[in-house]
Amino acid sequence: MTKVLPVNKTSLLQAAKLLKADELVAFPTETVYGLGANALSDRAVEKIFAAKGRPQDNPLIVHVCSLEMFESVAHINKPAYALISTLMPSSLTLVLKKKPCISNIITAGLDTVAVRMPNNLAALDLIRCANVPLAAPSANTSTRPSPTTAQAVLADMDGKIQLILDGGKCEVGIESTVLDLTADCPTILRQGIVIQSTLENILQTKVLIAGNADSAVKSPGVKYKHYAPNCKVVLNVSGNTKEIKLQYMQIKDEFARVCIMCADEYINDCAFAHILPLGKDARQAAERLYENLLEAEKSFDCVLIVWTDKTEVGMSVLSRLLKASC
Ligand code: TXA
Ligand code: MG
Repeated sequence: MTKVLPVNKTSLLQAAKLLKADELVAFPTETVYGLGANALSDRAVEKIFAAKGRPQDNPLIVHVCSLEMFESVAHINKPAYALISTLMPSSLTLVLKKKPCISNIITAGLDTVAVRMPNNLAALDLIRCANVPLAAPSANTSTRPSPTTAQAVLADMDGKIQLILDGGKCEVGIESTVLDLTADCPTILRQGIVIQSTLENILQTKVLIAGNADSAVKSPGVKYKHYAPNCKVVLNVSGNTKEIKLQYMQIKDEFARVCIMCADEYINDCAFAHILPLGKDARQAAERLYENLLEAEKSFDCVLIVWTDKTEVGMSVLSRLLKASC
């Protein structure tokens, strides 16, 4: 049985005790829920791979609550200090050279480690209480959409872990930006809400966004199937009303129950279908995306997603949609 407890002093202490005993605890972050284990214990970290059915060659992010803890797990270079002092805690993960306390199981054999300080009080309190860095992937079984509520974690992980800390809905909704600071040029391996222009302003240098081929080499997790609900996902990036209707009719020939997920601006044009709204802008869409995908699979055989937002956060949302639909 998996317990779900609201975040408070008692549940944090209970969670910290489980973590110290090498057990797994799911906890809220501002991005998505994480599945935490003591990053300094191989036995604990191995349990993450087993619970998620995660391939061993997909490295984990280490979560810290202070600069001191950050320094204990990674060699912090100049650009990393600049980002830490300006932005953190935030939805930004830095890839840096690892320190010896971080095992090859976490890094999948790489000599680098991905580290982040989550911008969420419950997460920071939990790390402080456990007094160790926490290795934590998103708290879903591999290939599924990441959970943004404790209920979504439970639906996926029930019976596999002992405790879920319920901190309500995650306000960001998509995973952190992963920035590699070990390359010649800082490179975004996974897009998120911390965007290229913000990073370039702070670092005063060009920041690259890795194409899928490069990031699959640099960041092994990127090559795997991701974010896929148990229903078909079809993507429309044109936003052309006639085309959307035609596509919808074609899908209807094959699937009985079809819905459309789209930004508010398309709701009127798509009134012929059941709508799962993505909200007024890319930030709202990020917040709702995974919850909507999980909603879609409950009642529909196929979801047609209309997404045309070309802002930087819009592109971060698109990167998830491309994976969910392939
Ligand atoms: O927002 C987030 O980052 C969430 C919350 C829980 O913090 N965590 C998360 O973890 O999304 P996960 O395991 O689902 O994704 C980790 C990503 C993968 O794409 C992985 O390949 C990459 O980070 N990664 C981890 N260590 C790396 C390393 N040393 N070098 C390059 N990429 C790395
Ligand atoms: Mg994940």
